[in-house]
Amino acid sequence: DVPTITLNDGNTIPQLGFGVWQVPNDEVTEPVVTAIKTGYRSIDTAQGYDNEEGVGKAIREAGVPREQLFITSKLRTKDQGYDNALRSLDGTLQRLGLDYLDMFLIHWPVPEHDRYSDTWRAFIQAQKDGKIRSIGVSNFLPEYLDRIINDHGVKPAVNQIELHPYYQQRDVRDVHDRLGIRIESYSPLGSGAVLKDETIGEIAEKHGKEPAQIMIRWHLQQGFIVIPKSTHAERIRSNFDVFGFELDQDDMDKIAKLDRPDGKEGSDPATNNTLF
Ligand code: A2P
Repeated sequence: DVPTITLNDGNTIPQLGFGVWQVPNDEVTEPVVTAIKTGYRSIDTAQGYDNEEGVGKAIREAGVPREQLFITSKLRTKDQGYDNALRSLDGTLQRLGLDYLDMFLIHWPVPEHDRYSDTWRAFIQAQKDGKIRSIGVSNFLPEYLDRIINDHGVKPAVNQIELHPYYQQRDVRDVHDRLGIRIESYSPLGSGAVLKDETIGEIAEKHGKEPAQIMIRWHLQQGFIVIPKSTHAERIRSNFDVFGFELDQDDMDKIAKLDRPDGKEGSDPATNNTLF
């Protein structure tokens, strides 16, 4: 069984989930059904991925009771603001065919729009209304976390940020620990780039495992929630087969040294991000 993490609101989330970024709506149902049949119970989508309907279809087809699943989506940037966010959440529930979300995240802070704090107030309301079990954020720098906590007195349960062996974000881990906010790693495999790393390859060979499995273990052993994405059935299965072995201290030390200043692949949270 997948270990679960208890969040600061008392809810639990499976530590390993399934991501669907860049999978088109008409292609997403099959991999999500495969993932759920493999044993994944946590699915991570977003309004900006434009595939919520296909994910909803998979949830209905997979044949696993709703209460056993943990479904996350994220609010798109153009729907930030108090009223917009509440209306937009209803659209997400409708597209997914659900009457509640397990988690909803503010996808990007977009500080120059200065609407993320008002948006956070809407999330707190929607949680009170029972439409969202856990509320969180994504791509938030520590100063933005401080702002919403100071403004409204409610901490996000998670912050979903880019994190992988080439971009280890050591400086922000302490902040999250201190605040009791769990880190969810996105692009956990470095969007594929780190998979070809020589050191990762050597560690994989030593354990008789795939490079992706080594990286997923690396996230799990540091306490991160991790959501690898794949559209290939055999990779979906092998990425889930990570509970029968452990990386040792020597492996962890070697991977720690792979961090690099130019390791970030995604957008910068401090600038206006209109991708989503
Ligand atoms: P694909 O969907 O074709 O399998 P991340 O989760 O860091 O964004 O990385 C996902 C990328 O890594 C995707 O391009 C995915 O491609 C690929 N990928 C996922 N799992 C594996 C695996 N086990 N082996 C090789 N590539 C993988």
